[in-house]
Amino acid sequence: MLITIWAVPVLYFNFSYPETEWNWDNIDTQDIHFPESFAWGTATAAHQVEGNNTNNNWYQWENGVNENNQPRIHNGETSSLASDHWNRYPDDIRLMNDLGVNHYRFSIEWSKIEPERGNFNIAAIKHYRDLCDSLLKSNIIPVVTLHHFTHPIWFENFGAFENKENIEYFIKYSEYVFNNLQDLVPIWCTINEPTVFVSQGYFNGIFPPGKKDPVLAATVLENLLNAHTKVYRHLKGLPGGSEAQIGLVKNIFQFDPLRRWHILDWVFSNVLNDVFTNSSLDFLKKGSSTFSMPGMVKKEMNNPDAVGALDFIGLNYYSRMHVKGRPSLSEPFLFEKREGDIQTDMDYALYPEGFYKALHTISTLGKPIYVTENGVADQGDSIRALFIKRYLYSLNRALKEGLDIRGYFYWTLMDNFEWAEGYKMKFGLYKVDFNTQERTLRKSSKLFIDMVKKRGADERGYLVSIGENAPDFTMDYTSGERVTLSQLKGQVVVLQFTASWCSVCRKEMPHLEKDVWKAFKDKGVVLIGVDRDEPLETVLQFQKEIGTTYPLALDPGAEIFGLFADKNSGVTRNVVIDQQGKIVFLTRLFEEKEYNQMIEVIKSLL
Ligand code: FCB
Repeated sequence: MLITIWAVPVLYFNFSYPETEWNWDNIDTQDIHFPESFAWGTATAAHQVEGNNTNNNWYQWENGVNENNQPRIHNGETSSLASDHWNRYPDDIRLMNDLGVNHYRFSIEWSKIEPERGNFNIAAIKHYRDLCDSLLKSNIIPVVTLHHFTHPIWFENFGAFENKENIEYFIKYSEYVFNNLQDLVPIWCTINEPTVFVSQGYFNGIFPPGKKDPVLAATVLENLLNAHTKVYRHLKGLPGGSEAQIGLVKNIFQFDPLRRWHILDWVFSNVLNDVFTNSSLDFLKKGSSTFSMPGMVKKEMNNPDAVGALDFIGLNYYSRMHVKGRPSLSEPFLFEKREGDIQTDMDYALYPEGFYKALHTISTLGKPIYVTENGVADQGDSIRALFIKRYLYSLNRALKEGLDIRGYFYWTLMDNFEWAEGYKMKFGLYKVDFNTQERTLRKSSKLFIDMVKKRGADERGYLVSIGENAPDFTMDYTSGERVTLSQLKGQVVVLQFTASWCSVCRKEMPHLEKDVWKAFKDKGVVLIGVDRDEPLETVLQFQKEIGTTYPLALDPGAEIFGLFADKNSGVTRNVVIDQQGKIVFLTRLFEEKEYNQMIEVIKSLL
């Protein structure tokens, strides 16, 4: 009996939620390209970087003590001057330019904008306008978060998001900021990570207000999701609202069983995934969901207005937790590290596969996705390089599978005040010396820069464009002859990327034979079919079947193809290169109009 109660669900869970782990030895993490239009940015939050925030819930929290009369922040630290970003933002924008990013996500400090209820501070809003102006002048698009964990003391004293009546204050503040910045800011995040705010502030009690009350936690989550919905609807109705992209930022941390054969580990993992992620996503998808922790709280959340109240969804992803269930009422589960995992300085490991999974989970909302945060705490700079390679690979994999991912914001630009962990956690691409405020690029950050600066593929998968010099390479013809592209200078070269299994190529080839090869081969045109990654015999057989006479060359590993187009994109392409070695025309698939244009271009070169 026991065996059935145990084994059947465990088998079912193992089958329904398979472990996702890739063999990284077989993965080339460098073989990735992002679209030319992809947004690259870094992200920060006001309280963590600005300095001198002395009027919000976190200021009170950092400067108070816990029930044992001990400081609440690691090492008794306080945010104080933080990274002095309030004053140093012009320098920090230069640092962003050095990274090559074109977006910057930052948050507005509500307690500076509205230090007392209803009193809006003009100097503070002007500061953020200046910041946005400076960003735009440096070709960086500002992305604003309205609430990133902090709010004014007066709002906290009113009970903050514990009372649904207080949502009105958040709407008024948001309206003020939106009216003052909407002409400069195209992308808006309403609230950062509602479930992190709730779990840390109302469940674990390590963020303000330091409560441990599951029933209240559920109420606060419901109020935050409703606050998002109301702010979204309200801002959309303001001037500039319909043009703005407004979304919510959702953190996904997966909860996985530590022991995949243990029923309790599964039960608690499932409960945690439901309250942390699924309840919020359901709310946004269906306008209703249940927040349930058996024996503690069960709350139905309803708001039909929430359906569609998003222009995009922001995903913050770091890692997962391993859950160990226990037969104990006082502490029914624990989080434990799993042996063999690569640990970060936070209490979680690297889990790039989880990033890929989270992107798929968040995509079920059916909205465009921005990765609004992703980064690693790594004081010794020993795993950041691996982090960047593997997480960006995972991102790229999800993108290639067709998910609508528009951009990626690295967390974070420079070291900062990491909430309860204080200054110990080093998440920055730039290291900060907090005695001098000096910023230095970390060695591993070079990998991020390389990816940002790497040429993106266009929507047809091309890495090259018209007007640039063709990359040089050497190829072997099926005849055994070897040619280097640069040796062909002085002639017009048409590279036809093809393969024996490609039906569109087969359709196009007789036309190329007639209109290019036969017509122009004596007039200084070389046509070469470059066959994608097939052995000599296959290519010879292919040539025989098609009956074409122009030379075919081999392209093992699609290395030549990869110089011109993203290796993951398809063949049937012609690249026309002029007598000086410059690319003058690019085709994709066999489309009559484009094909005829190509013939005209070739003619005009002769
Ligand atoms: C996220 C927060 C961000 C930062 C990172 C490490 O949960 O949004 O402010 O603390 O974690």
